[in-house]
Amino acid sequence: MKTRFTISRLRAHLRKQAEYSEFATKQHAKAKSQGIEYKWEDTVQRVHFLGVEADLCDLKSVYALADKLVNGTVGSPEATTMDGLKLPHGSPGTHSFSEDIQQDRWALSQNPGSIGAQRSWGWGLSGLRLPRLDIIIMSAGIGGWTGLDWISVVKCVLLDTVDALTWPTFKLPNPGAVVKRQSLLKSAKLSDEATQPLLSDQQNPDEPPLGEVFCSNVFGHYILAHELTPLLSRPSSPSSHVGGKIVWVGSIEALAEHFSIDDLQGLESFSPYESSKRLADYLALTSELSSVKRISEPYFDPSNTVTAFKSRDDKQKDDKSSFVKPKMYITHPGVFVSDIYPLHFILSMIFKCFTYIARWLGSPWHTIYPYEGAVSAVWAALIDTEELEKMEGYGERKSKWGSATDIRGAERVMKTEVPGWGWNGQVENTVDEARRKGRKRDAVDLTKEAREDFEVMGAKCWGKMEELRKEWEGILGVRDETK
Ligand SMILES: NC(=O)c1ccc[n+]([C@@H]2O[C@H](COP(=O)([O-])OP(=O)(O)OC[C@H]3O[C@@H](n4cnc5c(N)ncnc54)[C@H](OP(=O)(O)O)[C@@H]3O)[C@@H](O)[C@H]2O)c1
Repeated sequence: MKTRFTISRLRAHLRKQAEYSEFATKQHAKAKSQGIEYKWEDTVQRVHFLGVEADLCDLKSVYALADKLVNGTVGSPEATTMDGLKLPHGSPGTHSFSEDIQQDRWALSQNPGSIGAQRSWGWGLSGLRLPRLDIIIMSAGIGGWTGLDWISVVKCVLLDTVDALTWPTFKLPNPGAVVKRQSLLKSAKLSDEATQPLLSDQQNPDEPPLGEVFCSNVFGHYILAHELTPLLSRPSSPSSHVGGKIVWVGSIEALAEHFSIDDLQGLESFSPYESSKRLADYLALTSELSSVKRISEPYFDPSNTVTAFKSRDDKQKDDKSSFVKPKMYITHPGVFVSDIYPLHFILSMIFKCFTYIARWLGSPWHTIYPYEGAVSAVWAALIDTEELEKMEGYGERKSKWGSATDIRGAERVMKTEVPGWGWNGQVENTVDEARRKGRKRDAVDLTKEAREDFEVMGAKCWGKMEELRKEWEGILGVRDETK
């Protein structure tokens, strides 16, 4: 249902862009100058929306999703009515469509160019094999908060509005929250236990605890991206040297003090969300450093995946020379109002008002709406890989790309300061004025020592994550299933 709803919204957005936007106006003018007519229908028909689902906290479902994408086929759900209801048998956009069936009055029409034709087109596709993946954006995630400390909210927002609304310290965590036991999920797919288990409740000695926030925000994605490397490593043409992009959606709140290498999953932390986002920073920003590559290399090796072992295509399995290593990037969406915050609708509206105030007080990070928040991830996804690699010094000077806006809300992408890494892993003598905008009030200039510590910590994070990945492969027995 959610996939269907999301695809419907994307489809509506696409149509708007193709028909009425600035882009559409330009296309009209271009076509006119060539003496032809621009048809928005041609534009929308080049885009397909397919839906696949997994629960990042159910690791078996993550492996199953990867297997489906690498070795299986995918499709899109069937078309529905405007209200998401089932269409009558035989309607366009459904598997049962047949031209011979008399269409219901309110069923989708297929007259060329009609709204019905646009809505019905592309639904109900099935049996499609993915040739390769250019980009994956790892955006799903949870905050894991149970509420807000209201006294602290009032105090912090009144005393330091912008910093309090950018790096809030008043969200209440659920310390020690772990995911449901994987062995339970396996047998009873979606267990309907109402309450979130805590670390102390998890009894199975064979199954080490998995932090809920850690698994949703980092580990589930980490496994998925690794298992998708067979698709991400396929070049777009035999002469291409460019692999796919793995794009993390991090957070501006990922401060150093929230993370401890001895508590990788944030199980004992009072800020597991921020800890998980800091971990993503370490992984992405250090992934290509020469000192870290030795540890991170197996992660990017497509022949090292469970999906590759499952593949029936032996030729592809052996042909390692044709693979191109995927690259990892980190972005963040600024601050926007979404369901991630545990707020009632009215409080959400009030929060939105405050985000406007923060923007008017000079914050570039208050993107307020998801559309503006998405700009950095979309930019990282669409920019030419070679150009992005050049900007990042081929892995030696990586940046955290943030979504930002000007005071009127016009979106842009800005490099973001990362404690211990600066704006690009380079120790600079001065911080220019443009970069001061959006800087945390108590930010400390990068030193050589801090930069070295960041690199060492990055290597440790990669080491621990790879250990954990292998440990869970063993616990879940996913490799045994391939024998
Ligand atoms: N909002 C902000 O200000 C802000 C700031 C910094 C970073 N971010 C990051 O931006 C990303 C998107 O957040 P958002 O604000 O858009 O939150 P959101 O509206 O709550 O969306 C989060 C999405 O993640 C999915 N998700 C959560 N847990 C999952 C799991 N275990 N398996 C599969 N899907 C799961 C949710 O799916 P279901 O609804 O089906 O559960 C939902 O679609 C997150 O990574 C967040 O940390 C947001």
